[in-house]
Parts: sequence; structure tokens; C-alpha cells
Amino acid sequence: MNAPHVPVLLEESVALFEGMHITTFCEGTVGAGGHAEAFLTAHPEIERYIAFDQDENALEIARKRLEPWKEKVLFIHDNFRNIGKHLRELHIDKVDAFFFDLGVSSMQLDQDIRGFSFSKEGPLDMRMDQSTGMTAKEVVNELPEKELGELFRDLGEEPRWRRAAQAVVRARRRKPVETTRELAEIIEEELGSAPRKKIHPATLIFQAIRMYVNQELESIKEGVQEAIRSLAQKGRVGVISFHSFEDRLIKNIFRDSLKKKANKFRKEQQEQYEEMLELVTKKPIIASQKEVKSNRRARSAKLRCAQKG
Ligand SMILES: C[S@@+](CC[C@H](N)C(=O)[O-])C[C@H]1O[C@@H](n2cnc3c(N)ncnc32)[C@H](O)[C@@H]1O
Repeated sequence: MNAPHVPVLLEESVALFEGMHITTFCEGTVGAGGHAEAFLTAHPEIERYIAFDQDENALEIARKRLEPWKEKVLFIHDNFRNIGKHLRELHIDKVDAFFFDLGVSSMQLDQDIRGFSFSKEGPLDMRMDQSTGMTAKEVVNELPEKELGELFRDLGEEPRWRRAAQAVVRARRRKPVETTRELAEIIEEELGSAPRKKIHPATLIFQAIRMYVNQELESIKEGVQEAIRSLAQKGRVGVISFHSFEDRLIKNIFRDSLKKKANKFRKEQQEQYEEMLELVTKKPIIASQKEVKSNRRARSAKLRCAQKG
């Protein structure tokens, strides 16, 4: 395994829950357990820490790191979109704190074999959960050109999406596209390296395929909505996102549950009013220059938090 995953916005994340008395904490994305370790240290009163990750390798690493809290931590290998089902099975009605640190971890990016990175030769896989679902290879070689283009446009926001899709389809007619490098070269040949841009021409295409393979936006929507439903009074949910559309999605999910919408019901439907959210962060928290200097992943991180009741 290469460099360990460095958690982003760590102090800021811990600060969101400062002063709270937390009995049950639920994390959707435990990864290498960096945030979890900080939360468990800051809140010795936590009785149950439910830690989701859809990547078995990540859970293995987190298990080791969180060994000192093994009596409290329950690891669940599943997509966090299924949080509700697991909480019901565990007979947990309300959760005091939820946390999500979205996207991929450095461990996933660094392992060639996982196929997440265009700068490393590996099979086109990109599944966070390797036990299920469509691989990137299937997406790249089987999706009709129109759908491929739409996914480059919608999930990559790649302005030259049509050309990129045409290039992939031309290449796969000759032979199936098997590896990350092959795909990166097809895209680079078609789109060229944009001299003024700092990013590789395949960056947005890889991002789009990864998000499609892992159904990331659908999972975020379902997982965060379920978290809001299961949040205890005065409980908080914090989410770190790394792309503009993820951040927009979080903002909209929070906005749809905001208290002000329920103002008119305030007197008649007090209970419903209490179920609504208040924003803890009016604007997303971003990383300091110091953090960005030492950890490039932090440059696009945005942390939002809301509280129930
Ligand atoms: C950025 S890393 C989290 C790192 C963690 N905060 C730490 O400090 O080590 C994101 C993790 O979330 C997992 N993940 C992403 N989307 C997921 C989902 N929908 N359900 C479950 N796990 C998910 C990934 O497998 C990855 O391990």
C-alpha cells in the first residue's frame, strides 16, 4: 500500500460536533478511519460508532486503526445509500451525528489494480465495491455512443463530450479498450493536452466514468436524505464533497429540509417543524492554504453541516 490517506478538513470536521453529547455516531465513508479516529478521540462518550464503507480494503485498514475502540465500532460493508435498512435492522431509531467524506480515498487512487487513475496502468475497473456492479471496462466498451457522450457531459462537465465519446467508440471498434492508459491515450489523442489547463485531458472523463460506475450522485442523495430522516433532535450531519455537482446536491438536499419552509406550519404542526433542518454552515467550509499546500486533495473540498430541530 502506498501513502496513507490524509483526512481533509479534519479539525474543521471535529469542530462541527464540538460540545455535543453523542451516543450514536454514524459515518458513511470510514475509509482509512482518519476522521473516525478523531471523532472517537474527541467524544469518549460515544457508545456506538457505525462505520460504513463499500470497499472491503478500506474496512480492513480502518479495522486496524480503530482497534482501540473495537467494542464500540460496528463496521458495515455496504453502500451508505442503505443506511436506513441497516439502522432498522440494528433497531436504532435515532442517530446523534452523521458524517460523510465523499469520493475516493488515496488508497483507491494509488492502487493500479483498481483502475481509478489515468496516470497508472491498470485494468479499467473503478468499482469501489469490487463485489458487485458494472466495471468501467463494461461502461466504456458497451454503452451506446449517445449515452457515453451524455455521461461525459453530465458527470464530467467535459465541454468536448461529443468528440470524446466518438473517439472511444472509434477505438473500441478496432479492439476493446482494456486499460486505464489505453483510455487516457484515446482521450488525449482526441482532445489534445490543453496547454493553459493544469489538468490532464482525461481527468473529467475518468471522473465521469467513476461517478457512473459507482452511482455516486444517486447514493449521496439517498444516503444523506436517509441520514436526515434518522437524525435525533439537535443532531448534526456533516458532509465533505469534492466536486461542484456533489456540493450543489448537498446544498439542495439541505435546502429542501430547511426550517424556514415550515414556518407557516409552525403553530399547527410543531412536530413536523422540529423535524426540519437548520444550517450550521451558511457557506461551505474550505481548506486553509496551509492544508492545501500539504495535501492537494484538500483544494476542492467543501464541508457543509446542518442540524435538526
Ligand atoms: C475520501 S475516503 C474517506 C476517508 C476517511 N474520511 C479517512 O479519514 O480515512 C471515501 C471513502 O468512502 C467510500 N465510499 C464512497 N462512496 C461510498 C458509498 N456510497 N457507500 C459507502 N462507502 C463509500 C470509499 O470507498 C472510500 O473508502
